[in-house]
Amino acid sequence: MLCDNITTAPTGRLLFAGQDTVALARQYGTPLYLLDEDKVRENCRTYAAVCRRYFDGRAQPLYASKANAFKRLYQIVEEEGLGIDVVSSGELYTALQAGCDVNRVYFHGNNKTDEDIRYGVERNVGYFVADNLEEIRAIEAEAARQNRRQRVLLRLTPGIDPHTYAAVATGRVDSKFGNAIATGQAGEITAYTLRQPHVELTGFHCHVGSQVFEEDVFEQAAAVMLEFAAHCKQAYGYTAQQLDLGGGFGVRYVESDPSLDIDAKVGRLAAAVREACGRLGMEMPEIRIEPGRSIVANAGMTLYTVGTVKRIPGYKNYVSVDGSMADHPRYALYGSQYTCMLAGKMGEPQTLACSVVGRCCESGDIIQEHVKLPASVCRGDILAVCTTGAYHYSMSSNYNRLPRPPVVMLRGGREHEIAVRRESLADLCRNDV
Ligand code: LLP
Repeated sequence: MLCDNITTAPTGRLLFAGQDTVALARQYGTPLYLLDEDKVRENCRTYAAVCRRYFDGRAQPLYASKANAFKRLYQIVEEEGLGIDVVSSGELYTALQAGCDVNRVYFHGNNKTDEDIRYGVERNVGYFVADNLEEIRAIEAEAARQNRRQRVLLRLTPGIDPHTYAAVATGRVDSKFGNAIATGQAGEITAYTLRQPHVELTGFHCHVGSQVFEEDVFEQAAAVMLEFAAHCKQAYGYTAQQLDLGGGFGVRYVESDPSLDIDAKVGRLAAAVREACGRLGMEMPEIRIEPGRSIVANAGMTLYTVGTVKRIPGYKNYVSVDGSMADHPRYALYGSQYTCMLAGKMGEPQTLACSVVGRCCESGDIIQEHVKLPASVCRGDILAVCTTGAYHYSMSSNYNRLPRPPVVMLRGGREHEIAVRRESLADLCRNDV
């Protein structure tokens, strides 16, 4: 199986986190997002432990909450002691509503609005990760207005190609994010920031990309960033306290993907950081990493009910479900691969080649192509899509005025409870005048 929280009961039913998925679908209705709380906690603990072990306690993981964000989830991450990466006032607001420690919140984004900056400064957000010179100017002005000194990190582009899909590659010189080291702009913004009275430069940040499997991308980026930090010491007499290396570890969506060994990855990264610090004769700054996907992806599963099954002899078979690209956007956007199964028919051979499609009015509304399901698939069957804990609920929309599904948390092999309610038809008109 893809992950140890996906198993089959002797009855042929699919279990997720030890619980009967068909029964959960009956109780809560479909489409339904499930999130395995125990797996989220296990992933958080693994990151926290390896940060302690490999960096002598001088590193902290931050949860990149764009991957999945709602109050209960922020609370769980907070209880596990992680910091939080937010990218909007909305994420910051939700994290604060959940009771997160604002000192450990990092406010990201390549184009923070004046309102974002005002809200962040007002709420005493721990750090802004400033993307560009205009932002530093705006943060300086707002902090001066509120008579505060705001800590910031500068986002830099180390010029590393992570070899992932284009939509999530961010570390290259031509990226819309950050300041390129190669063009000299990173040096300029550093010198400028150091002259600002209401901004305190805490260190540097980079994020090379997401769903990255390539072995040495993170190590290469760390080395380039540390070389830049050493240059700043020489050029400006500035010592960076923190180096934030972003997120991006790839996770397993289908059997052919490698499984993620967080311990080994972070261990290798730590070795590269130490090696570079030794070579450059500098003390190791405090390290931050920002995993999002690898904390929540394998904790998630989506359940749908099968509707129309259409066979076009000699051409193609379609299995339609009651969800769509509105709750499952990643296939339409990136062609992402997923593992689908019929939750009530796990014992049957999977002989029917089909496309699993959604209910939106466009042909691109596809859950997954080239799927094999039991030939007996029919209206009313429950279809499970695995590994949907990251970038699903958080990227869902109301396209076609479809209400967003609820999120149900699973715990201890038996307990389940709603963390986000299903939207009602009335919710859809809430803001219509
Ligand atoms: N830090 C920064 C600054 C980021 O931009 C991101 C992701 C992360 C951390 C977390 O990366 P992760 O560990 O989750 O790979 N919607 C796309 C993913 C967009 C990722 C954007 N940035 C998808 O569904 O594949």
